[in-house]
Amino acid sequence: MIQKPKGTKDILPGNSYKWAYVEEKAKEILENYGFKEIRVPVFEQTELFERGVGDTTDVVQKEMYTFLDKGERSITLRPEGTAGVVRAYLENGMASLPSPIKMWYMMPMYRYENVQKGRYREFRQIGAEIIGSASYKADVELIVMADQMIKKFNIPGVTLNINSIGCPVCRAKYQEALKAFIGKNLEQYCDTCKTRFEKNPMRILDCKEKKCKELNQGAPVILDYLCEECSTHFENVKKSLETLNIPYKIDSGIVRGLDYYTKTVFEFVSETEGYTVLGGGRYDELVEELGGQKTPAIGFAMGEDRLIDIFEKYNKSEEIEPKVPDLYIASIGNIAEETAINLALGLRKQGLYIETDICERSMKASLKYADKTNSKYLLVIGEDEVNTQNAKIKDMKTGEEKEIKLDVDEIIKNIK
Ligand code: HAM
Repeated sequence: MIQKPKGTKDILPGNSYKWAYVEEKAKEILENYGFKEIRVPVFEQTELFERGVGDTTDVVQKEMYTFLDKGERSITLRPEGTAGVVRAYLENGMASLPSPIKMWYMMPMYRYENVQKGRYREFRQIGAEIIGSASYKADVELIVMADQMIKKFNIPGVTLNINSIGCPVCRAKYQEALKAFIGKNLEQYCDTCKTRFEKNPMRILDCKEKKCKELNQGAPVILDYLCEECSTHFENVKKSLETLNIPYKIDSGIVRGLDYYTKTVFEFVSETEGYTVLGGGRYDELVEELGGQKTPAIGFAMGEDRLIDIFEKYNKSEEIEPKVPDLYIASIGNIAEETAINLALGLRKQGLYIETDICERSMKASLKYADKTNSKYLLVIGEDEVNTQNAKIKDMKTGEEKEIKLDVDEIIKNIK
């Protein structure tokens, strides 16, 4: 039997309602903050990610699904959403629209990762991007919205960690200090780190190798090198979060895995699972890097697969149970069957969830099936019922039966 590729998953009917629930609730929150949906292609020109995400990142160097198409173009399955959204923003002239532009997406992403708990090769993100505001207020609005989303899904043990990784001005000084620190032991770092030393030493802080992590202990932190503008920006973000009672921790170790970040970066980390559920930050240079005017922006993406993994553990409420049929209509004989089909059609048009037999089941098997599907009510129609236009409707929970007219309105009155 052919099996699904490693790191992918099937979301089956017995589970998909949870995904629908999360997406619906997330969408409500996003739209209440004024975000509008954007959909971009699953694949893009490889250069977009090389330039956008950064060619010294793990994502670009090790994790992209890249191939030549039949026209010999280098194509990559999107490993993240931001680069594609910014490309679409520029390509479609959205820069001339009133700013800021607020967009959300729910899309699958592809990364050739070492598959483990919470780390898949195809995974889904719920993301939000604000393009066109340099103010700390945009950072705060976005973080508050992310916090509201996490809380909506009732996931315990999630902490908000924030940091600032400055702008090109403060980063230049910081990188000098960092290179001086790393340079002392450069020979002991892994080969990838060595190649990153000249071009992008901050990436070395993100290396997953145990040896490199140890060597990085005691490295200078960017927070000590922030320029006045970045420092004020960060102070304002922190102050506002405090005013709004959003608890946070400063984690000077957050550098994020993608190169486009500037100033505020943040992660909502699940302490119980040991991974980040939602990550994001400011990216004030990306629009320009991809060919537009210098335009400040900020965004985040929530790992939907990770969220659902935790969500399933803690949420058993009625609200997220799958839908069950309002009524099962069982029938015996051709004429009764016709009546059943007509009634089902009329009731479905009124928005009810109706099941009837489409498997040529016997009456006994039909009743068993109605029970298995947890139908709320049962209506049995035979020749007599067709003749009298009356039938018994049974409340499957209480077992109570009632004689009613075979009429759409009459049925609705009795099952609501
Ligand atoms: P990211 O930190 O690479 O950021 O991914 C965001 C979230 O996606 C992670 O916190 C995690 O929950 C989830 N995630 C990432 N990789 C995997 C994986 N292999 N399996 C399952 N879940 C995963 C971004 O992608 C940025 N584009 C976020 C952003 C938007 N920044 C600004 N705007």
